[in-house]
Amino acid sequence: MKALILSGGHGTRLRPLTYSQQKQLIPVANKPVLFYAIEDVVEAGIRDIGIIVGPNKEQVVETVSSVEWDAEIEFIYQGEPRGLAHAILVAEDFLDDEEFVMYLGDNILKDGIVDHAEKFKKLNPDSLILLTEVENPQQFGVAELDENGRIKKLVEKPRIPPSSYALVGIYFFKQVIIEACKSIKPSWRNELEITDAIQWLIDNGYNVEASIVKGWWKDTGKPEDILEANRLVLDGIQPEGKGKVENSRVIGRVVIEEGALIKDSIVKGPCIIGRNCRIVNSYIGPYTSVGNGCEIEGTEVEDSVIMDGSKIVNAGRVIESLIGRNVRIQECGFKPRGHRFVVGDNSDIVL
Ligand code: TTP
Repeated sequence: MKALILSGGHGTRLRPLTYSQQKQLIPVANKPVLFYAIEDVVEAGIRDIGIIVGPNKEQVVETVSSVEWDAEIEFIYQGEPRGLAHAILVAEDFLDDEEFVMYLGDNILKDGIVDHAEKFKKLNPDSLILLTEVENPQQFGVAELDENGRIKKLVEKPRIPPSSYALVGIYFFKQVIIEACKSIKPSWRNELEITDAIQWLIDNGYNVEASIVKGWWKDTGKPEDILEANRLVLDGIQPEGKGKVENSRVIGRVVIEEGALIKDSIVKGPCIIGRNCRIVNSYIGPYTSVGNGCEIEGTEVEDSVIMDGSKIVNAGRVIESLIGRNVRIQECGFKPRGHRFVVGDNSDIVL
């Protein structure tokens, strides 16, 4: 079996971060979201991986290639993000008549895909789709199931949901999906929709099975989703102390990476402090990920993701924040006093 991981798309809902960074590279617990997908695929024994790249393809290629994976990885360029079914067509040569798992590179799944891959092999359907029970199916793609648990129909964001089972961004396919993707027309948003391609399979008598995800699943499409995924992943970390702790209290499950210094501070887990960080006279609270090379001084940070190289000094209390790379936030130490901003388009500031 092969894997097709999608790491294209514009990620408009994550602006301004995605003006400079491909969304699948945004870190969750100090690891790019995309790496969770690659790890899940490798764990399922798949050694042939195609990664769809789009607008910031160089970044994705560079970041993925900086790690030695136990798999062959090929990058496939999708000129324009014209939909998930379009991404399959772009990858037709790579897929080469084999069955495959398609994994959206901004999705994170607690328990991986091993069980689902086994179910796909055992049942041998034309497609197997991962579903999870949600409280607000109106906001998702939803599946209607028959009495045998097979998929009867897919509906996008239904006003009256036929079930509470939402589509997770992971799908197993036989090669007939290519014919389905070629047979459908673009939707109102001018994209070739994967839901339409799957519906084409059902309408043409192919067997589409469901597999239910029991542990948590998160699609990291919006800022609050990144914070939630960060909480979920940090909930499962084990403490590790490679850095230096001076005159400080470290409470609970905290990962302190190599070269980090924690001085005159309190750090309360679960949280992760990246390589070569300096945390001085500060409080780092639960559910915080601090990227590599950050400096935090005289500040309280809680429930936040701070990316590499950022510096926060005497900034009061920072909560539920998503802070990009090389950002500076500091107290105004001179007159006239006031907030001074240099922020990019579509930034979001709450004072
Ligand atoms: P979406 O989150 O639906 O789309 P997007 O990335 O364009 O985000 P936004 O709506 O905020 O603008 O895409 C799901 C996943 O698939 C995501 O990882 C991006 C990827 N993708 C592609 O690789 N190619 C595509 O043509 C599309 C539409 C998405």
